[in-house]
Amino acid sequence: MSELPTTTRAGSMTLPASGRRALRVAIVGHVDHGKSTVVGRMLHETGCLPEGKVEQVAETCKQRGMPFEWAFVTDALQAERNQGVTIDVSYIRLATPNRHYLLVDAPGHREFLRNMISGTAGSDAALLVIDAAEGVRQQSRRHGYLLHLLGVPQVVVAVNKMDLVDYSAERFAQIEKEYRAYLGELGIVPLAVVPVSAREGDHITGPSRAMPWYQGPSVVEALDEFAEPPAPIDLPLRFPVQDVYKFDDRRLVAGRIESGRLAVGDQILFSPSNKTARVKSIEIWNREAPVSVMAGESVAITLDEQVFVERGEVISHEHSPPLESNVFRARLFWLSKKPLTNGTRLTLKLGTQSAPVRVQEIEKVIDTDSLDSKSSEKAPQDAIAEVVIRSRGMLALDTFNQNPRTGRFVLVDEYDLVAGGVINMKGYPDQRALVTVKSSNLYEVEHRVTQTMRAAQIGHHGGVLWFTGLSGAGKSTLAIEAERQLFRKGYHVYVLDGDNVRSGLNANLGFSPEDRAENIRRVGEVAALFADSGMIVITAFISPYRADRDRARQAAGEYFHEVYVNAGLNVCESRDPKGLYKKARRGEIPEFTGISAPYEPPDGPELVVDTEGLSVDESVQQVIDYVERNFEFAKEPESGD
Ligand code: ADX
Repeated sequence: MSELPTTTRAGSMTLPASGRRALRVAIVGHVDHGKSTVVGRMLHETGCLPEGKVEQVAETCKQRGMPFEWAFVTDALQAERNQGVTIDVSYIRLATPNRHYLLVDAPGHREFLRNMISGTAGSDAALLVIDAAEGVRQQSRRHGYLLHLLGVPQVVVAVNKMDLVDYSAERFAQIEKEYRAYLGELGIVPLAVVPVSAREGDHITGPSRAMPWYQGPSVVEALDEFAEPPAPIDLPLRFPVQDVYKFDDRRLVAGRIESGRLAVGDQILFSPSNKTARVKSIEIWNREAPVSVMAGESVAITLDEQVFVERGEVISHEHSPPLESNVFRARLFWLSKKPLTNGTRLTLKLGTQSAPVRVQEIEKVIDTDSLDSKSSEKAPQDAIAEVVIRSRGMLALDTFNQNPRTGRFVLVDEYDLVAGGVINMKGYPDQRALVTVKSSNLYEVEHRVTQTMRAAQIGHHGGVLWFTGLSGAGKSTLAIEAERQLFRKGYHVYVLDGDNVRSGLNANLGFSPEDRAENIRRVGEVAALFADSGMIVITAFISPYRADRDRARQAAGEYFHEVYVNAGLNVCESRDPKGLYKKARRGEIPEFTGISAPYEPPDGPELVVDTEGLSVDESVQQVIDYVERNFEFAKEPESGD
């Protein structure tokens, strides 16, 4: 997919003559439920069809000896629009005396999903079409769920083909009730549910004689009631860099402003590189250079100094930057026939960023019919899943709640769009502060032996197994035994243990929160160096704070694996291998973890070993299995040395 998830292919089509942006309405529905007929009728009754179109279709129908079909009008329009263009979505203009619309339509279910998800057909509202004879189908529910997922809150439902159910008020009431209940659970309150016969022209623009029992608005009247979506200009500035051009001797940074405003003289920050500069000028093709611009505009800027930035960076103001993280949670829609499994590697497209990622874990799969969620290791086609996604490098991102423009992404497998979703960060911290370096004038040397070369020679990847848990949970016992067994299996492995390291490298540190943080920072950095050198490092530290563990994760990058060695406080206390709990209870050890100092359990550990219910051997086996699953080196072609 060459297109960016947050840009629109039809950018130039969004400005009607009045200068006001047209409201984009997605036409949603099962293929056979009469979407095209509804659209054809709406165009006709609002006078939006090109002259002669109806006659032309009538003639064709007559020649073929079939009754007049409104759907053919829509199809004919789409065919003309899309000639020679390989996009699977079409935009149809509709105007009422109140407003201009761009109806966003896709021919089939799959095209619809792909377009909604990629954001290429981003819409402000939706018209959902349901067949009165068929009733609410699984697909209608999926469509509703997708609108909820993508934050399209404004919905009108047309219950079509009422003529086929004898304009039955009961049948309509039944469908309305069922679908309203479903949407209601998703937090969507449809603006109107309209009984329609598109074929006969009931309730398209005006009242219907066949259904005197219905008092609400017609479809078009209902569309006219949609609110204007709030413009993203009030959100913080997000300007993803699309390209950097050299022009004369100037360097132009180009892209589209997704949200907020930007002015000449602004101090800006590039993420994730964390470079800063000041805006010297703003340039727009064919226009006099403006002093300021805002969301929706495609611009190029020049800077007051030479900074080397690339496509994928996100420009913001310094005081309201995006988050930085190499891990995030997401709710995604899985489109591929091949089911999604834990560990699947894909390419993330987020704004203009493109990064290799791994779906670390599928946490839940949501049943769009019952809205129940269950834990599962697989997400089949069309499933909605809650997952944790991890990338090797830092990403600049927003949560969907904070910024719907930049908080959504797509996943690509080779060239196929396989998923799209929205970001949330629950339990994962912003890592921006943790990666800021104090010193300047540092020039890091680059190793000429790469991690891959080391892994190829050793036969497995280096990495960190970060054990965390209460004192007495079994961290050291497991670490030492796992080290022995892994070594026997030929792994290069080494244990860093709290009590040992505290007698040497960290002999100057105690147990205050600050000292513990520094303890873990140093160990995290040391472990990362070990891992970089190709070793598997097992660390056994209480490491009670999430933020500290996250920093250790940050230091080690992709091959960091948090292992929660889990046993309840009462179990640890009853084990009390060093007699420390007793002392702590007597008040002889201040700030003892679990008694008088906090322990923050991990939120999304890669592995949980429950030592309460398992023997030492069984627990160790879990660790060994995990290593064998995750550290294997799969030979990839390596270029040069
Ligand atoms: S951490 O909190 O900074 O990660 P670390 O794992 O290095 O702790 O050290 C924990 C070990 O130090 C415990 O297993 C115990 O033997 C000893 N210890 C001494 N005082 C304390 C204390 N106040 N809290 C926890 N552990 C302590």
